[in-house]
Formats: sequence, C-alpha cells, structure tokens
Amino acid sequence: MCFALCFSFASSAQNNLPQLGKAPISAVIKAMTLEEKAALVVGKGFSIPGLSMGETDKSPDKITGISGHSVGIPRLGIPSLGFADGPAGIHKFMNAKDSADKLFTTAWPVGTLLASSWDTALVKKLGVAFGEEIKAFGIDFILGPGVNIHRNPLGGRNFEYYSEDPLVSGKTAAAIINGIQSQGVGATIKHFAANNQETNRMSVNTIVGERALREIYLRNFEIAIKGSQPWAVMSSYNLVNGTYTSESDDLLTTILRNEWRYKGFVMSDWFGGKDPVAQMKAGNNLIMPGTTAQVKAIVDAVKNGQLSEAVLNENVAGILKVMLQTPTFKRYQYSNHPDLKKHAEISREAAAESMVLLKNDAGVLPVTGTNKTIALFGNHGYDLIAGGTGSGDVSKAYAVSMAEGLTNAGYTLDKDLQQRYQSYLNDYEAKHPKKPLLQELLNPTPLAPEYTVDKSSVEQKAGASDLAIIYIGRNAGEGNDRKIADDYELTAQEKEMINNITDAFHAAHKPVIAVLNIGGVIDVAPLRDKADAILLAWQPGQEGGHAITDVLSGRVNPSGKLATTFPVSYNDEPSAKNFPGKEFPEKATTGMFGMKSIPAEVTYEEGIYVGYRYFNTFNVKPAYEFGYGLSYTSFGYSAVKLSAATFNNKLTASVTITNTGKVAGKEVVELYLSAPAKTMDKPSEELKAFAKTALLQPGKSEMITFTLTPSDLASYNTDASSWVAEAGSYTIKIGASSLNIKGTASFNLPKELVIEKDHKALSPQTGINELKPGK
Ligand code: BGC
Repeated sequence: MCFALCFSFASSAQNNLPQLGKAPISAVIKAMTLEEKAALVVGKGFSIPGLSMGETDKSPDKITGISGHSVGIPRLGIPSLGFADGPAGIHKFMNAKDSADKLFTTAWPVGTLLASSWDTALVKKLGVAFGEEIKAFGIDFILGPGVNIHRNPLGGRNFEYYSEDPLVSGKTAAAIINGIQSQGVGATIKHFAANNQETNRMSVNTIVGERALREIYLRNFEIAIKGSQPWAVMSSYNLVNGTYTSESDDLLTTILRNEWRYKGFVMSDWFGGKDPVAQMKAGNNLIMPGTTAQVKAIVDAVKNGQLSEAVLNENVAGILKVMLQTPTFKRYQYSNHPDLKKHAEISREAAAESMVLLKNDAGVLPVTGTNKTIALFGNHGYDLIAGGTGSGDVSKAYAVSMAEGLTNAGYTLDKDLQQRYQSYLNDYEAKHPKKPLLQELLNPTPLAPEYTVDKSSVEQKAGASDLAIIYIGRNAGEGNDRKIADDYELTAQEKEMINNITDAFHAAHKPVIAVLNIGGVIDVAPLRDKADAILLAWQPGQEGGHAITDVLSGRVNPSGKLATTFPVSYNDEPSAKNFPGKEFPEKATTGMFGMKSIPAEVTYEEGIYVGYRYFNTFNVKPAYEFGYGLSYTSFGYSAVKLSAATFNNKLTASVTITNTGKVAGKEVVELYLSAPAKTMDKPSEELKAFAKTALLQPGKSEMITFTLTPSDLASYNTDASSWVAEAGSYTIKIGASSLNIKGTASFNLPKELVIEKDHKALSPQTGINELKPGK
C-alpha cells in the first residue's frame, strides 16, 4: 500500500541533509526553508472526490477521501500525515459502496451512549479496537473524541459529545484516547473550547465567565488531556470572549501549555479562525485543511517582521515531535483489513452495556422466551439510526435494525407491519435520493416522516400480537442545531401513534415498550405516562438492532445511566433563554464554501449551573435526572465509611454494593460532594467520582472505594484566579443517581486551601448577569 510513499522516502535520503528521526529536530528545522516551514504548518488542502479547495500541495493524498493531510517534505524525511474523522468511527468523504476499494469501517456507539456506560474500562477496550482499525487503514490521527459539554439539548452535535458534566466527559474521553493511542496512532480531542452550538458555528462569540469556563467548559478538556496526553488538540470554530479560539494565546499557550503542561500539538478546525499569523502566535501549530493564501500570509509575515521566525519554528517543532510517533513516519505497512468481525462484536457489547433503561413498570422487561409476536411500530425500527450526520457519520458496511435484531434472536415480528413499513421506507428513499457529497454533508436529506398505521390496524395488531414496541428516531449533525417543534418535541404523528398504540394494547392487556434511537435529549413527557417501559438506546452504532435486542431479551442486564438530564420541558433548561444567542445579520460576510457567515454572540448567563448543577440546586424536577438508570435487578448500598473525619490532603470513602435481586447485574455508583458555600455560591452537589461494579451475581457484593484529593474540594475563585477549597463541613453523598442518594457522610476541612493559582485568562470584556442561587 505504501509503495509511493516508501519510494519518496528512499529517494529523499540520498543527500546529506538532516533527516527527521535521525538528526535532532532543531537541525531539521534549520535545514528547512521559510516556505517549507510555512507549508508544514498549513495543511495540504481540502481534497475529496469531486471537490478540491485551497490545495497547497497537489501531490496525491496518501489516503483518498479522508478529511485532511499535512504537507510532506521528502528531502528532509518529513512524510505527509493523514487525518480522518471522527469520534464514532472512520469517516470517508465518499460512499464506500461506490468506491473502488470498498473499504468499510466500524460504526461504534456514539459518544453520548458510550458516556452512559460510566465504564472507563469498557470505553478503553473499544478505544483499543478503534485504534487498531485507524492504524490498519494507514491513518495517523483520528479527529476525535469530541468532548464539548451538552449545554443545551438542541445542540446539533451533542451525539458526538459525552455529557453535561465535565468529569464524566473528561474521564470517558481519557479512556478512549488511552485505548486509541495504545495502538500507536493519534487521537485529536476537539473542539477546544466552549463550542456548544452549531448555529453560526464559525462566527459565534461565546461570552462566558471565567469560573464557568474553568469549572465546566475547560475542565472536561483538562481532565481528559491530563489523563491521556492526546497527540493533538483541535481548536474550535467559535470565539471565546472576543477571540477566535485558534487565535487565542490565553487558551492555547497560557492555559493548555503552561498551566496544563500539554505536550502535543494544536490544529485548527477546518477553515476555522481568520488570521493565520495570529494562529501561529497563539500556538495553533497546524492550520487545517490549509490554503495557499494561509501559506503566503505566513511567509509574508515573517519577511515583513510581523511574525518572528522563532515562533514559526516552535509551531513546526510541535508538529515534528509528535510526527516521530506516527505510523506513517514509522513506515507502518498497513493492511486495510482490520478485524471488522471482532470490532463489530465490541461495538455491540459497548452499545448494550451503555443503554439506559428509563422505565420498566411491573417488570415488563425483559421479554423472556422468544415465542412472542411483536408489533414493531415506527420507521426507524426498520431503519436504524446508527449515528449522526456530517463528519461524525461513519463509512459503515451495514446497520442492523431492531427488526433484524429481533428476528435474528428468534422473535416473531408482525409480518404485515414489517412489510408496510419497509415498502414505505423504500418508496421514500427512491423519491429522495441522496444529494451530491458536499450538499448532503451540509444539508442532509431529511428523515422520512413517520408512517401512519391507521387506528383499526393498530387495534387488530393488539389482538394478534403479544406486545408492541414504539420506536422513536432522531438524527442531527454538524452545521445545524435541532429545533424545538417536531424534533425536540415529538411530532403530531408520533403522539397520535403513541396514543393509538397504548390505548389499543392496554385495552387488550398487552404491554407497550418504547425504544428511543436518538442523538440528543427529546421531550419524553408524552411517552413517560403511556409506555410501560422505555429503553434509551441513543445512537448505538452499526450493531444497534442486536444490542437493543440483547437488552430487551435480558441477554444483557442494562447498566447504563444518564450522563445528561432529561427535563420535563425545554423551558426548564437553564440555557433555554440564551440559546443559540443573537445574530448581527447586517454584518454578514461570505464564509466557508461561499455560505453566508453571520456574526453572532451567545452569553452563558447560567454560569456554572449547567445540567444537574442547575436542576438540583434550583429544585427543578427533571423527567429523568442525571445519573439515573434502571436494572433488571436491585442493589443495596451499605453505609458510607470515611477514612477520617477531617480532611488531610486525601480522604477515602467506601461503600459496599450488594445485588439484592434475582439476576446478575452491574451498578454504577456515583459520589457527589456538597461543599460549604460561605464565600462562593456552589451547586447543591457535584459529581466527584464514579465507578461501575463488576457483574454481581444475586447476593454477591463488591466494595467500592473512592479517593478525594484537595482539587476535588475546590471551586474557581475568579477574583483570585485560584482554585480554592473553603474551610468547613463537606458532605459526601453516594447514590444511584444525582437525586437517589443512598448514604451520606460528612468531614471537616479545618483551614481554607488554595490548591492552584492560575493566570488571569480569557476574561469576558463585558459583565455577565450570571445566575446565582437566591437571585
Ligand atoms: C468539523 C470537525 C471535523 C472537520 C474535518 C469540521 O467541519 O467541525 O469536527 O473534524 O470538519 O472534517
């Protein structure tokens, strides 16, 4: 596969020039011309089948159809590296079915589902398999994971991200990065930072307070980066407090490098930011995908003294240091044939282990015994939504629908319904063929409207089958946020379907189970009181139908818990009045792909009160709270035992979990901390640690021990730019969810601790009317 590349390596070593890997990096940089340095810090251009833009180097790409490459400088032994999307599997900008090589890749469960596992060992295992696959396809960097906080349910890319909580986000990201990178390929954590919406994504100025940044929107990255040292960080499209993140010295140098001691390099998001010279000065090493205008701007700036060559050299060195570890540099002979079968099994396992059982009245689940006839309603029961759209979409070979999953497990489906849905969907697809590549990426073909099964047919099915499944599907992706009507909220057809089915089946004393195949939070109110059971499958990857069936059948006992709150109503969301912000259409310019770019701003007035930090502190009852999820068994929690009553640098809290039910299961155990709120306002409690038990057989127990360190007690004091733990009484709350606390124990911190003094950075230019308890 790498003949061309190997040849160029061989021919480059003919002279006495310093070669990367043999000579010190400083010597290689010394031998580079100014033009070569500028070429290296600007990607090779955007080149996908049918569309090439801004190519800085017209040599053939190492791998066709991936998102980007860096420029190679063969005379110095510097290869061109390949960067491919995305967080839930490898994305190629071409349909693998139509490509000559037919190289399909594994679609893993999306980020939101993985985070619901609360199982870092499982996520790491998936990361290892993902890393093997990235390497097998000759790719150097995967453009993921995405860790941005779920600030608002309408965020179009929430499916790519993990959670509303920085600890769950950071730990999950660290686990997958450690897995991926254990295989000798790079992960790219993105989008750094405070990139929580898609509306005006390339121009929006996020106005956010320093405390909210430090505790929420940077904390997720900090935990992940310190816990895994990703090879690359991708800066985001948006501005933070007036500066593009890719041009922010505060963000990329002061915080990321100086405070967090990050050792890898930073790349921009595709066509992100405006000023390549400012990007260089800020420490955004690599500008992607790269244009000739950017190369010229950098060369000119060095020549006219606006950019010091030493700064350019530092950016080059950052890339070269990491490059030494890459498979391409090491001339790895990739096969293009990873073990897709094994990976499909891991994808299925991870999906099933992460799904969240939201409701299970009278134990209608699991559906034991396969001698049941099931009436499956809902388009997507026959057409799985494996993952979201845009660069987060995956070049998968197949997606197992729930209908297939049930059939493969031996259940009988109502054939008439199956046939009606199938022909409706085939017809829709024929009438709405997929658009050309880029148009589809920017403006995906809408999903088929829900097929309506008439009331009398529903009644007939209630007589003829043993149970009904109502399957609700949602999809979204980069470029657009979701809407409230007909997306966050259920459509009129869906509500009618729910009413008709629950009326008919309940009249016949038959249960109704709802399955949610969604990428972001939806309004569950119309379902909650009607369905007997609700399984949240999120977007489960290519094996979704099998994984859902594994849980419904009881082959897998559900153990996922919500990493994001489901509110009763959209307007209960603390960010609802500030999403997606204000636009300034009179200042519109032409942006990426000739699209209109409208300057905009969004103010995070909810401050640190994001997700459960808001719902719990302000006593707003959600539909399903953060950390919630049911099991087919039950668990007992012992009293919480602390290692000491006074905090002295470290403290442990232990609890013993016992399976008190009838089937084997795993329990996610969550540790929340309530801190004294004497001089600073505080959330009523914050998640500080979590763990998942092993599979416990009925009657079996496991002791879980959590360790708290000083930084777990601290909050960010903006005036002092410091992390401070107030003196006083702290309460540890250990529970099965953020509202279902099973035991508490208190300890005392005798004296205030200043844990870390940071720099004043990323300060907002205007005052923010931030939400505070009692205000
Ligand atoms: C997305 C990134 C992605 C990049 C390359 C951008 O539009 O925001 O997440 O990695 O494109 O495809």
